[in-house]
Amino acid sequence: MAAQRIEGKPLAAAVKQRVALEVEQLKQRGIRPCLAVILVGEDPASQVYVAGKERDCAQCGMESRLYRLPADITQAALLELLAQLAADREVHGILVQLPLPAQIDEQTVIAAIPPEKDVDGFTPVNLGRMLIGQPCFVPCTPAGCLEMIASTGVSLDGKHAVVVGRSNIVGKPAAVLLLQRNATVTVCHSRTKDLADHCRRADVLVAAVGKAGFITGDMVKPGAVVIDVGINRGADGKLCGDVDFAAASEKASFITPVPGGVGLMTRAMLMENTLRAAKLLHGIE
Ligand code: GUN
Repeated sequence: MAAQRIEGKPLAAAVKQRVALEVEQLKQRGIRPCLAVILVGEDPASQVYVAGKERDCAQCGMESRLYRLPADITQAALLELLAQLAADREVHGILVQLPLPAQIDEQTVIAAIPPEKDVDGFTPVNLGRMLIGQPCFVPCTPAGCLEMIASTGVSLDGKHAVVVGRSNIVGKPAAVLLLQRNATVTVCHSRTKDLADHCRRADVLVAAVGKAGFITGDMVKPGAVVIDVGINRGADGKLCGDVDFAAASEKASFITPVPGGVGLMTRAMLMENTLRAAKLLHGIE
């Protein structure tokens, strides 16, 4: 039997609707949540992502401020803008769209975001807090993955979760979140031996590789929950994930589509984080 699709659209819409309601209540208290987005250079994918974030903010009744900087900007100038936004009491969330040009050190820039405005959850403070289970901003993509798994009603307790990919923004935090939900977690990466064998043992398979068709049908355990984080262009020019969707659907119990899956939830989680930042900065909750 074909797997059930975990649709991102209705899940994301429900999150955004909840956020919009709370934003309305904050506005009645004179607070308008505001997300500052910094886009350096002209990377086409980044431009699409940033436009989506602006649209989401508008839908949720939040303010968004986009700072477009030239690709040849110095690190010092970027850090100066971050210092201004850090001090600006009307800005609640700060997001620096990645990747950054080569002359800029990504980690130096991320560390310059105050943890309380770090709605991406990328700063060392928030990642460290997440690791030890303290309140923090959780990176949006892994948070979205966990929401999608939760929506299936399948418990993670004691299950074997396999994460393919070990990036700081998806693979590693996803592994930590799955562990917090009592899954037994395997993290696979480009140097993993017998990767297919690991995948075949996954009750929950999270693919965050960035290669179209990387996860083939034979790598999916019958009945597995498959979460596809990849956003790639296939040979036909169409958007696709890391998972061979048709083949994996024959094996999985639940699977996320691309497009229409994790990406939408990532954006919704950003709205939730920005709302929370606004509330925290105003001492609400
Ligand atoms: N580039 C790709 N994904 C992301 C993300 O979630 N946040 C930021 N800031 N940049 C990204």
